[in-house]
Amino acid sequence: MRAHQQFLDSLQSYTRQHRAEPWRGPFAQFLGQILPAAPTLLARNAHQYIWDMLRWSRAGAGQDLFAGELFGLDDALARVCAYFQAAAAGSEVGRRLLLLLGPPSGGKSTLVILLKRGLEEYSQTDDGALYAIAGCPVHESPLHLLPHSMRGHFRDTYGAVAEGELCPHCSARLEQQHGGDFLQMPVERLFLAEAQRCGVGTYAPHDPATADMADLVGSVDLSKVAEVGDEGDPRAWSWSGAVYAASRGVLEMIEILKAKREFLHLLLTLTQEKNVKVARFPLIHLDLAIVAHTNLAEFRRFVLESENEALLDRMVIVQVPYTLDYRAEARIYAKLIKSAAPAFRDAHLDPHALHAAAVFAVLSRLPDSEGKDDELVRAVRLHADEDVGGMLRPEAARTREGAPGGEQDAALAGVSPRFVVNALSHAIIHARQCGHASLGAMEVLLALKDAIESDARIEARKKRRWLEHLALARKAFYNVWVKEDVHRALFVAFEREADELLEKYLDEVEAMLDNRQVSDPITSDERRPDERFLRAVEEKIHVSEAGKQSFRQEVVRKAMGAYKRGEQFNLASHAPLREAIQQYLFEQRRDVLRLVSSERRPDEAVRGRLSAVEQRLVDEYGYDAHSAREALAYVTTLLAQE
Ligand SMILES: Nc1ncnc2c1ncn2[C@@H]1O[C@H](COP(=O)(O)OP(=O)(O)OP(=O)(O)O)[C@@H](O)[C@H]1O
Ligand SMILES: [Mg+2]
Repeated sequence: MRAHQQFLDSLQSYTRQHRAEPWRGPFAQFLGQILPAAPTLLARNAHQYIWDMLRWSRAGAGQDLFAGELFGLDDALARVCAYFQAAAAGSEVGRRLLLLLGPPSGGKSTLVILLKRGLEEYSQTDDGALYAIAGCPVHESPLHLLPHSMRGHFRDTYGAVAEGELCPHCSARLEQQHGGDFLQMPVERLFLAEAQRCGVGTYAPHDPATADMADLVGSVDLSKVAEVGDEGDPRAWSWSGAVYAASRGVLEMIEILKAKREFLHLLLTLTQEKNVKVARFPLIHLDLAIVAHTNLAEFRRFVLESENEALLDRMVIVQVPYTLDYRAEARIYAKLIKSAAPAFRDAHLDPHALHAAAVFAVLSRLPDSEGKDDELVRAVRLHADEDVGGMLRPEAARTREGAPGGEQDAALAGVSPRFVVNALSHAIIHARQCGHASLGAMEVLLALKDAIESDARIEARKKRRWLEHLALARKAFYNVWVKEDVHRALFVAFEREADELLEKYLDEVEAMLDNRQVSDPITSDERRPDERFLRAVEEKIHVSEAGKQSFRQEVVRKAMGAYKRGEQFNLASHAPLREAIQQYLFEQRRDVLRLVSSERRPDEAVRGRLSAVEQRLVDEYGYDAHSAREALAYVTTLLAQE
């Protein structure tokens, strides 16, 4: 109940913050009350408005439009922002259409959706206040009402530039309803909203054969012709086209190169000249930014036709490639899983499951260097900004650019995030059928293997390569990660044992040096010092038979010194000895693991140790019971092969 109330409260405060005051009044009042406060802001064109929106979203600390939504696309996002910045500054690029070019499910649509949502939200803020002539089918700026002869004076007075012509619909209204008195034309605050077809539009070509220009620019509305009696009357025009809806904001053109050539011409002219021509009307001034996207196959086909050269020249092309940073890639999967149905969202994933899958995806995107696995592995590390053989950062950045998949050739092919997420979903469903809601990395890799093998669209050679990439992701990445986890869990769980071992080592060494017996603490039986134990420890750090005496003397000397100074002699006091004891312990544990893998019925003590390790994996390394068990079993088989 309380949670519901809290949600309701936050919803109300959201509406309070986000619902700006509407405003409505005649143009004269707009000029008197509204305009003087922020004339330049109110005279912004669509590109300037979008650029300001991007800056606004960035300024609101951590509120970046794309943060938390798009990962590993920094370059593409920077280029998109640069386009709007240049266009806003009045550069020539504002007269070109922005074309996002990238592989399937690489985030193009998401990028545009975020832009649109950003615009909708910005228009609700004070800084983002927009005004339009009320009732105008293209929600045009009220400044269009200013006669040309007065615009110079306007600029001198307000320091802002009035651009653009009144649309045919409003000029007819101005005459018919207000007798030409533009000061009486109604003006209102404009809130951009795709759902209201207001300043945000989308156009997707369906079947190109039936696609009609009317979808873009409208058509004569025959029922209204009967009413107004004239086909040329703007009131008889149906202003339902996508370009009108998007006016003042942004028009998204999906798969633009699939559209008919005449569509493309119209849109390019629109961006360049800021107007469209429809039958019987003078040019209609429209101010909007067009963001189009297309996939690579379509683009290549388009480029091949020489007649398209002039069209290409009028576009700014931004590549939206797949990311090569496996951590960013894994964040995409996490986001997609989190937004899925609860059955998927709630599944537990072991800490490496997504990273292992992401490494595979990145490997498939790198330029192929068959037979050079080391190079591929290095490239994956470099792109994830990881240390590669002690290289320093700037050097690494340079190498990354030269490495396969560096600046020269962005990743425009390979496994898509969607492919991986589909495989993940299958794996989760499968896990549920097996009665658990948890996935280990190996299960994920197996699901990917299955997905590759059963996908009829993938050609045989590519299948083979992808399976090799999968194997490499496992061998060079996952195996290393999971072994490290298990090792760490083993060590920390037995830290106390390491201390005890040190104690034992010292006791035995002292007895050995003094040439006396060691007495058993419980039975008080006397026995000879355990030379085999001492050597087993010492051999871990290559203390030779000839050198053992001086090594032992040195250890005892240090222990005595510490004792005299009232300090503790522990593992931290003697690095070589610590190393030796850790190795000794680790090998002991490893033998325990080996034992379990070979033994059908591990004894009580072995089982106890193993479950302590499992518990550590759960408590500290992000596993759950199922995946910890899987990981441990997996590492055991790895050790058996070593
Ligand atoms: N870099 C990324 N960061 C975050 N999410 C991403 C990224 N790339 C893809 N996605 C997610 O993958 C899904 C598909 O992406 P989207 O539809 O935006 O791709 P697209 O490039 O438009 O693909 P298509 O060419 O198939 O239309 C979306 O849910 C999107 O959020
Ligand atoms: Mg898309």
